Order: sequence, then C-alpha cells, then structure tokens
Amino acid sequence: MNVALGVGGGIAAYKAAELARDLMARGFTVNVIMTRAAEEFVRPLTFAALTGRKVITNLFSAASAEDTLSSAIEHIRVAQENDILVVAPATADLLAKFAHGLADDFLSTTYLAFTGRVVLAPAMNTNMWNHPATQANLRILRERGHLIVDPDDGALACGMVGPGRLAEPSSIADAVANLATPAKRDLEGEVVLITAGPTQEPLDAVRYLSNRSSGKMGYATAEEAVARGARVILVSGPVSLAEPANMEVIHVQTAAQMFDAVMQHLDESTIIIKTAAVADYHRADAPQHKVKKTAARMSIELDPTVDILAELGRKKGDRLLIGFAAETENLIAEARRKLESKNCDMVVANLVSQSGIGFDSDENEVVLVTRTSDPIAVRRAPKKEIAARILDQTMSLRLALR
Ligand code: CTP
Repeated sequence: MNVALGVGGGIAAYKAAELARDLMARGFTVNVIMTRAAEEFVRPLTFAALTGRKVITNLFSAASAEDTLSSAIEHIRVAQENDILVVAPATADLLAKFAHGLADDFLSTTYLAFTGRVVLAPAMNTNMWNHPATQANLRILRERGHLIVDPDDGALACGMVGPGRLAEPSSIADAVANLATPAKRDLEGEVVLITAGPTQEPLDAVRYLSNRSSGKMGYATAEEAVARGARVILVSGPVSLAEPANMEVIHVQTAAQMFDAVMQHLDESTIIIKTAAVADYHRADAPQHKVKKTAARMSIELDPTVDILAELGRKKGDRLLIGFAAETENLIAEARRKLESKNCDMVVANLVSQSGIGFDSDENEVVLVTRTSDPIAVRRAPKKEIAARILDQTMSLRLALR
C-alpha cells in the first residue's frame, strides 16, 4: 500500500524520517513530499536515502531540479497513486491551507486532489495550537473525516511547556496502519436497537421537563454499529444532531413514545443499547393550554414514567441488553445494582459530575460493568472510540454466551 508522507516545516521535521522508516517496516511504500519550509530543517536526501525513492520538493521548480518530478500536473498522479496521505509535522500554516483549500505548493495541491484517507499529525508552539484559528481549522478537518493525531504535552523547543510536540512516530504509524486494515464487520447479521438523547415531558402547552443529554453517545454508537455491519434502528429523543445515514431513525418526544417505539421493534432486534437519558417523571395531567403566571407558589405533581430498560429486562429473551448508568457517586455499585435490577448483560457507567465528559460533551470516560468480568475502565476518549469499545465488549459477551 502506498502512503504519501507530507513533511511540513517545523523542528519536528526530523521525526518524519523516523516515521518514514516505521511505515516502511510495516510494509508501506512511502513517497515523501516536502514543503519548501521543511527543506530548511531536513535535507531531501535524508528521505531519498531512507525510502529509496524520489522526494518531491516543490511544485513550481519541477522540470529543473533533479530530485523533483517533471510535470506541473504531477500532484494529480501522486494523489491518485497513494492510498493514504499522512502529514507530519502538520504546521499551523498547513492546517489552515488544508482547511480552506489554499493550494500554492506541491503538498497543498496534492491534498486538494487527494480522495483517500488523510492523517494529520500537528506540531507547533502551544499558543499557536491553542489559538482559536488553529482550533477552528482542526474542527473543519475533523468534520471532513480526517484523522488528527493530537500532539503530545511536554517541553517544546521554544521553551514553553504544553501541547504541541509532535506525537511519537510510532503512534502516527499506528494510526496509518489502523486506517489501512479493512474495517471490522463483526456486527453483520445483528439488528441493533439504540435509544438516544433525552426525552421531553410536557408540563403544559409550551413547557417541558427534560435533561442535558445531547444524544451524541447514542448517535456515535449507532454510527459505529452501522460501520461494523449491523442493521440499526435508532429511537431518538429531541436532539440537534445531523440525521445519521444508513439506519432507520424514529423520532420521539416523550418516555411513553420512546417505550412504544422500542416495544414495536423489540421482536426484530438482537442487541438493545439504551443510551437515552429517559426522564424519570412526567406530568400525567399536563394542561393543553399555556399555564398563566400568578404571584402564588406553584407545585406540580409528577408521576413516574415507564422504566423502558426494566421492561426490556423482563422481555429480552436471549437478546443482549446494554443499559447506561449516569451517576454522580458510587459509580460501580450503582451500575451493579442496575445490572441486576434491570436484568442487563452490561451496564455502561459514567460519572456525569466531571466537566468535559458525559452529558453534552464530545468525550466520555466510562466503566463497563458485566456479570462475568471485573469492571473494565475505558479512559477518556471521543465518544466514537467509547462506542467502539462498548460494541467490542458487547460482541465478546455474544461469543461468551454462544
Ligand atoms: N431508563 C429507561 N427508562 C426510564 C429511565 C431510565 O429505560 N424511565 C434507562 C436509561 O436509558 C439507562 C438506564 O435506564 O439505560 C439507567 O438510567 P438512569 O437514569 O441512570 O437510572 P434510573 O433507573 O433512573 O435510576 P436512578 O434514578 O436511581 O439513578
């Protein structure tokens, strides 16, 4: 498999030589493209000697220098002949160019012409990394589906300490190798019913009771399950996320509606994952009109909603049932209690009291509690990665129960 290795101009450019060597040791053919700035730090000859291949150094000096290729449309050929484009170090300038489609040298034109998977390993000064412009560019690139190998924290050449140091070449090579291995299809044949988001329980014609769930964990799990070959039915409470592709999505508002939708699809499902943060109470006699304000204190009587997970626990048969437990204390004990009381095969427990993870965040940190093994701690990671670990564990339960 061919990898184009773009080398940006930064002190970490020398580490790209190590990366090239690591990639070759893993069987990749490495074609190096250096920016003009990169040449200030490392000589093209280093890469040519390491890879045994021509090193591309500049778009517009083509046809003259010996170590460059001869045609002005060469970037198209390079884009077509490589399966993965990895850029290390990706400078702030390169990230900005890629994010906005600027194409004024060989690497940036190749990037625009490239249709395969892209891995970017940024390296720069901490302040440059933290700058809103860089972070906004990273967001664009992530949303475009590129894999960002985050820089490490540590002492930088500029004397500062913080994020910005190029990730270890072996971690960057791992990321490339992961992309190169065909996606797992271990959920083929499974029908996964997933609930996501909050529910909203009307208090009157315009008000409701709800919670801070964003639905991100459930949507990430649904997308991961589809990618791994499952047929997915997603029952979603009100969220502001883009409609996911390649699955059946059923939108509901209340716990009662979520219950109906889940029960309707119970027969056909083989795995049920209850990510939703279902409201525990609702106002049974919610007036149909808007309640007017008065000076008096007001109290509202609430009734428990139906516990969908507990009901599923009674009816699950040999389906795998995965519940969630959002707790602020006694995480494992609470998860174990829910595992038993709701007859789940696994409970995904997370502490919602920490900032940056759990409700309404892009990241999560969970503990997977099952009957058969010790609790498995999954360290803080993007929700997509957490989803992958939940599905890995679900499938190993499936194998164990067969
Ligand atoms: N759940 C459900 N129906 C409800 C309430 C919760 O299906 N009416 C499910 C959630 O989808 C989640 C799990 O139960 O998978 C645990 O939710 P949580 O709110 O943590 O637990 P509760 O059962 O409400 O328990 P407690 O309030 O005691 O923490």
